[in-house]
Formats: sequence, C-alpha cells, structure tokens
Amino acid sequence: MLVSMKAILDHANKHNYAVMAMNSINMEMVRGAIRAAEEMHAPIIIQMGPGQMGKHAHREEMVPLVTELAQRASVPVCLNMDHGSKFEDMVDCIRAGFTNVMFDGSSLPYEENVARTEMVCALAHPHGCSVEAELGHVGQAADEDDENADFLTDPAMAKDFVDRTGVDALAVAIGTAHGAYPKGKIPKLDFERLTQLKQTLKMPLVLHGGSGAGEANIRKAVECGINKINVATDAFQAAKDAFMAAYNENPSKDYLQLCMDTEEGVKKFVEDYMQMIGCCNRYYYGAAVSTSKE
Ligand code: 13P
Repeated sequence: MLVSMKAILDHANKHNYAVMAMNSINMEMVRGAIRAAEEMHAPIIIQMGPGQMGKHAHREEMVPLVTELAQRASVPVCLNMDHGSKFEDMVDCIRAGFTNVMFDGSSLPYEENVARTEMVCALAHPHGCSVEAELGHVGQAADEDDENADFLTDPAMAKDFVDRTGVDALAVAIGTAHGAYPKGKIPKLDFERLTQLKQTLKMPLVLHGGSGAGEANIRKAVECGINKINVATDAFQAAKDAFMAAYNENPSKDYLQLCMDTEEGVKKFVEDYMQMIGCCNRYYYGAAVSTSKE
C-alpha cells in the first residue's frame, strides 16, 4: 500500500524503531527494495532527488512504477522526494503523487528556512502528502569543513522550527555526511545531542548520510531516536556490485539476466540492512503486530 511518510514514521516514533529510506533510480532498485520489505514485513521509503530525476529516474516514469508496486505490496510504502529546494519541483511532486516531500532549506538563513518550510507544509498537507525538513546542515563526506560543530542541530532552535512550521519529520545534523567517507574513516556522532533532540521534540527524526556511517553508529542512532535512515551511496554500490559479480561469473550472460541478478543483489542488501536497523516484523498487512525489538 502507498501511504504518507507521516503514517510510517509516526508508528516508528511511537515504537522506537527506524525505517530504511533508499534512493532508487530504476525498476530493479525499486522492485528489489519493495520485495525485500515484503519479505521482512517492514515498511519502506523509496526516494529520489531532483538531480536523479533530472538525469535518469524521470518523475513521469518513476511515479507510476513505484505507485503500481506499492499498491500491490503487503507492507506500507512511501514515495519521497529527497532534498527538494525549488518551489516548482515541490509542487510538481505533490501533484504527481509523491506521499512525502523533503524541503531542504538547511543552507538558508534560519528565518527563510522557517518561512519556506511552512509554505511547503501548507501546500503538501491538504493533498495527504507529509513533509520532511532539515535544520542544521548535513554536508558532504568528502568535505573536511563539515566536521564543524556549527552545522549541528540545536535542540532549542529545532523546537521553535517544528512549532512554527508544522513539519512532520525533521532531518538532524549529528555528525554524518552524504556520500563516501575518506578510506578508513568512520564519523563520530553526537549521541548526547540526538538524545536531547528526541527528548525535546518527541517526533520522527531522520538521519541523512547513512552510507559508511558504521553499524555501531547506526544501531545507537536508532536507540537514541532516529526513525528514518537515508541510504544512497551504499545502495548504488550494492546494485553495481551485484551487476559486476553476475557479469564476472559469466561474461556471456545476457542483459536480461544481468538485470535480474542486480535486482536480487539489491533485495539482499535491503534485507540485510533492515535486519541491522531492526525494522523487521513491525508491520503485517498494514497493522502493527510487534512493538518489541528484534
Ligand atoms: P548517503 O549517500 O551517504 O547514503 O546519503 C544519502 C542521503 O542522505 C540522501 O538524502
């Protein structure tokens, strides 16, 4: 079933678990992820950003694909626009049937981020589309400057932001970054800040930059209140690895078989990830059947 991200994340927030949100740019990734979610009895968030939609995963083609697969699925599926910043893009995605949009005003001055986020909520909510926003700034893993503590989310400011915007989920900056970290680096996360944010906001919190963040960090982040983990770089790598392994096993394999093997590789990646973050068996045919931790 296709549902709003709010429906998925309010349940996750209430029962202290996190849902995987995977950037997906083709049929193999979307179908592999949704099939994994069904097998694991877990909700899933399929997402794509404006750059990905502009280059390859065109909105007009991906929305019908995700909607069709989501409607057939036995678990809740959300279609999220990741890192929207242009007003027209947000409107187009809401109209096209996305069930969540993320407005990323994290590089804007605070008051402008508040005003624009509030406007996006006013546009999206009447359509049953929920909204994620970002406060503080999650930068790029390759950029050394993003270790700067000034970018981390301040709990008092976050409370003001949420109260004034009516946003449904908040992406917080606690030390992760987007993309691949320099070889051997595992980021240091500010769990004290995260705990404070959860205690102050008591709402769904989002971790961007899930790739390469380290299993121990991810598990602890979930314990401290993260309800959605964004994974892009590692998911694309899993798809590429699966394709390459299938090809290397037998270079004369036809393209159809390589695509099928890629989908199986993505499915396995998602299943393993879901087991790691502990979101399996939380939902069954839309009803919560388990609130205990696996
Ligand atoms: P990674 O590519 O680091 O997993 O980040 C994904 C993300 O946060 C998408 O919004």
